[in-house]
Amino acid sequence: MKTTPPTTPTPDDAALWHEGRLYLADQRVLPERAEFLSYERAADVAEAIRAMVVRGAPAIGVTAAYGVVLAGRAAHAAAGAGWKAAIDADLERLAASRPTAVNLFWAIRRMRACIARLGADDPTDALLTEALGIHAEDRAANRRMGELGAELIEGPTDIITHCNAGALATGGYGTALGVVRSAYAAGKIRRVYADETRPWMQGARLTAWELMHDGIPVTLQADCAAASLMAGGGIGWVIVGSDRIAANGDVANKIGTYGLAVMARHHGIRFMVAAPTSTVDMEVASGAEIPIEERDPDELLGCGGRRVAPQGCVARNPVFDVTPAELVDAIVTERGVVLNPTREKMQALMA
Ligand code: MRU
Repeated sequence: MKTTPPTTPTPDDAALWHEGRLYLADQRVLPERAEFLSYERAADVAEAIRAMVVRGAPAIGVTAAYGVVLAGRAAHAAAGAGWKAAIDADLERLAASRPTAVNLFWAIRRMRACIARLGADDPTDALLTEALGIHAEDRAANRRMGELGAELIEGPTDIITHCNAGALATGGYGTALGVVRSAYAAGKIRRVYADETRPWMQGARLTAWELMHDGIPVTLQADCAAASLMAGGGIGWVIVGSDRIAANGDVANKIGTYGLAVMARHHGIRFMVAAPTSTVDMEVASGAEIPIEERDPDELLGCGGRRVAPQGCVARNPVFDVTPAELVDAIVTERGVVLNPTREKMQALMA
């Protein structure tokens, strides 16, 4: 636990608990402004997840766990010994905040298991211990994935990444960008090409910010520039994170990831997914069963707060897609690496 009041967030300290409050770096305003918002109510935490104050699958899970701490504290203040009956509405609010990242449901399930072990006393301290544990485990998992992913890269090479799978999207260090950090430190990565990632611009705003913070050479490109870059040579790997991996190894990630995987295979470039096992959902048989979030078309109809499409224009805004397992060369988790994923290999990993 921090002992000083939070001031300015850094990529590795974007979510933290301090003196009874949850602090989240507001990822909607980065990098223009690096500032914390503070939360004392689970319903507000659920809204922060929905509104993208915090985003990225593992970060959503960590945040929801802290949201359950706030829910437990409020339920005990309102209902005393009957707090377990009073907490459910908040747990449901948190679970309804976003549909695709399974880390959200994984974290709530783990907090529910903790709740089941508790008695009638104030649950705040016990729930906080569990949430801090989830946070610390995620950081450790990312470090381990960084090592394992870096081992796969021969290098020195350039790589492409999509969206933001960095410290901001996790409990710290990052999944895909954790691999980048470790591989860069080992002299295996020359430069990262970051797709800008329409419409929320996670690549332009967050990935570029994080890599520049670390002094890792980064070049921003339009999402549609990846194919011509690949054709020019010099790209060894595409490295991305994931929001949910199905039991057969299909990978849901930010919209555009599937196209990158197709292009990578065409150009003989390898495709790596770095994700903790909290992102693996063995209850969905294939990617076809993964719920894909559709957000407000208005996010797409404008840019930078200004409308660009004609009034009345129809738009679709699915924010994730599914990359079939056969296009994935490696899934890197904290438990180990799965090369050319199949149902059997995923089962062995998760056993
Ligand atoms: O809509 P977002 O910004 O939550 O989407 C995030 C992604 O797609 C990330 O690539 C994914 O969550 C992996 S984060 C380590």
